[in-house]
Amino acid sequence: MLVIHTIAELHVHLRGVTGIVLVPTMGNLHQGHLDLVRIARQYGQFVVVSIFVNPLQFGMNEDYSKYPRTLEQDCKMLEQCGADVVFAPSERDLYPQPQQVTVELPPIANELCGAFRPGHFRGAATVVLKLFNIVQPRIAVFGKKDYQQLYLMRQMTAQLNLPVEIIGSETVRASDGLALSSRNQYLNVAERTEAVFLYQNLVGIRLAIMDGATDFFKLERQAMEVLSARGWRVDYVAIRSQSNLAEPTACECNLVILAAAWLGKTRLIDNLEVLRDR
Ligand code: PAF
Repeated sequence: MLVIHTIAELHVHLRGVTGIVLVPTMGNLHQGHLDLVRIARQYGQFVVVSIFVNPLQFGMNEDYSKYPRTLEQDCKMLEQCGADVVFAPSERDLYPQPQQVTVELPPIANELCGAFRPGHFRGAATVVLKLFNIVQPRIAVFGKKDYQQLYLMRQMTAQLNLPVEIIGSETVRASDGLALSSRNQYLNVAERTEAVFLYQNLVGIRLAIMDGATDFFKLERQAMEVLSARGWRVDYVAIRSQSNLAEPTACECNLVILAAAWLGKTRLIDNLEVLRDR
């Protein structure tokens, strides 16, 4: 496995390589990322994993400077799971000048997480588009854990006619159900025990919908109240259509429940797809 730090060096090594599968990450890898690499392997012969903590997608008061950077450990894990190239560019290489050209996303980018993290998805989409142009993958793999991001990457790719197929990979969970995330390590012991309740809440909503509940507003409000009562600071709990992340129509069957909430200083997100009977 090669670890490459510059775009120029990457171009030398990728010359003539076809059918590249890209797994874009910000590093500090866990089993969820390794699962993306495993899926990537199923889709192609040559897997490139990018590791770049992208300043463009962090807000002013977010955790950019303290975001864990663990390149050496990440590379060991990637070597074991069979990545071919790790591309870990410096900020100067990726943003040699202030990035004034950015990707304009559909309005849904300003809802859900976008309402609480203004500009986040613009920053994520812009770096992903740059990575697509640099790496020229045929396929890129993203986790469903970041459901809104996955949706927006699909929209960007389709609407800009990018020659990249986007694959969504299932969320990997700890044995108690907590979705794996680099941010879980910020949780103290008590918070880690409580954290699973976000997922359990989504499971409860899914059961209610499958039992025939149709008052989504009430389900969302109840879930937010329950979380708040347990000490969470809730950004949102929302039941949306899988197809466009809009509020679902009465006959919509493919739904997704999305939530973001803070435990202490840590913001956790999760989601659960629901297929409801007509
Ligand atoms: O999901 C992430 O880790 C990031 O948003 C991504 C896609 C690597 C872009 O920086």
